[in-house]
Amino acid sequence: SEQGCLSVVVLGASGDLAKKKTFPALFHLFAQGFLQSGEVHIFGYARSNLSDDGLRERIRGYLKGASEEHLSEFLQLIKYVSGSYDSREGFEKLNKEISEYEMSNKSESSRRLFYLALPPSVYPSVCKMIRTYCMNPSGWTRVIVEKPFGKDLHSAEELSAQLGDLFDENQLYRIDHYLGKELVQNLLVLRFANRLFLPLWNRDNIDNIQIVFREDFGTDGRGGYFDQYGIIRDIIQNHLLQVFCLVAMEKPVSLKPEHIRDEKVKVLQSVNPIKHDEVVLGQYEGYKDDPTVPDDSNTPTFASVVLRVHNERWEGVPFILKAGKALSSRKAEVRVQFKDVPGDIFRCKRQGRNEFVIRLQPSEAMYMKLTVKKPGLEMATEQSELDLSYGMRYQNVKIPEAYERLILDTIRGDQQHFVRRDELKAAWQIFTPLLHDIDAGRLKAVPYHPGSRGPKEADELSERVGYMQTHGYIWIPPT
Ligand code: BG6
Repeated sequence: SEQGCLSVVVLGASGDLAKKKTFPALFHLFAQGFLQSGEVHIFGYARSNLSDDGLRERIRGYLKGASEEHLSEFLQLIKYVSGSYDSREGFEKLNKEISEYEMSNKSESSRRLFYLALPPSVYPSVCKMIRTYCMNPSGWTRVIVEKPFGKDLHSAEELSAQLGDLFDENQLYRIDHYLGKELVQNLLVLRFANRLFLPLWNRDNIDNIQIVFREDFGTDGRGGYFDQYGIIRDIIQNHLLQVFCLVAMEKPVSLKPEHIRDEKVKVLQSVNPIKHDEVVLGQYEGYKDDPTVPDDSNTPTFASVVLRVHNERWEGVPFILKAGKALSSRKAEVRVQFKDVPGDIFRCKRQGRNEFVIRLQPSEAMYMKLTVKKPGLEMATEQSELDLSYGMRYQNVKIPEAYERLILDTIRGDQQHFVRRDELKAAWQIFTPLLHDIDAGRLKAVPYHPGSRGPKEADELSERVGYMQTHGYIWIPPT
């Protein structure tokens, strides 16, 4: 390519994230022609003593969805370098391997992408090593990092300052993989390219908005990590808050990444302090059976938190952010519930309100709940849906994995779908007081049954702030 050969370095190459997400995403990009042999080389770096083939064998089973020929071609692009995360020798060796590849490629400039598939505790030392020994002398160097970025405002700012001393903001790509999801990316288009929504998207018409994440499995095998963080840091402060930004922000000046991120920061800064009586925390029964979880853990595996935005568009509209593990189903969706019809002659309220649902996963879809005449001779009404299910409408389109998109964005230098430093800070500002109260035991998690909807207190909270269950009730007027 015009920009020269590309070296992708996966640090933490023998770990879980690399195996399950990073290498498969690189493989899919390769299979679709976005990475081409002769132009790209992939270096796995980790502490384990492995051969090139050893690494290839380790990841082979996770690379699916393309031909055997593609697979072996891809595996041949991978080299393994072993070393520790703070050793000069290791990173000098890595740099030597990359440089040799770049020389052999003979292009004038080159590109270096470092993917940190590592726990954040080693970010500062690894970044320092990259900065000292592995910078690209003739082209760009970019670094991908992934949450958790700290545990609260203070620790996040400390980490940001450490990385900021080593790299410019335009070299740092903070992944929130929800920003790589098809329907999350669609939010901007939906809101700002459709006349239909423009006049409706505000406090005059919308009663409440729920942003919900459910998983039907617990913290299986990750209890030790999870217990240090809890569901708010794991899901709400990042994934759901990013979705919230896209739902609630004002229209950006243009599609430039900086313009979009400016608007996200503004809406985050408009969020009021969270009130304790608008929070429900839960912990599923059996969570503490995990030997790595302390017996007296108060870590929430479920949380429902109401955010209130103090601005002209949203004053008075609750945003209910809800996330839980070990629930009855796996689903992530945005539910925009509209207000009741004034002067209602059909008793719409008893059947349910208009609701616009954006299902992020599984089975991507958007549907609008409407009241319609029930087909037939009688003049009866019922709730039905205007349904855009992607599986039906886009039958032959393969929806890309979030990581695939985000790695491609990084190669292209597009930071729109990455979290900017001030955005991260604003996100921590919202949740830090609440997190400190939970950590200090001032708020307690209530138990709930695994496989349930979560604590009933959460449903009560949603209803208390305005959410109304739709009943699908059919109304037949008296004759
Ligand atoms: C991760 C969390 O960021 O997101 C996990 O750490 C969670 O706890 C996962 O399971 C969910 O991602 P997805 O794409 O399956 O919704």
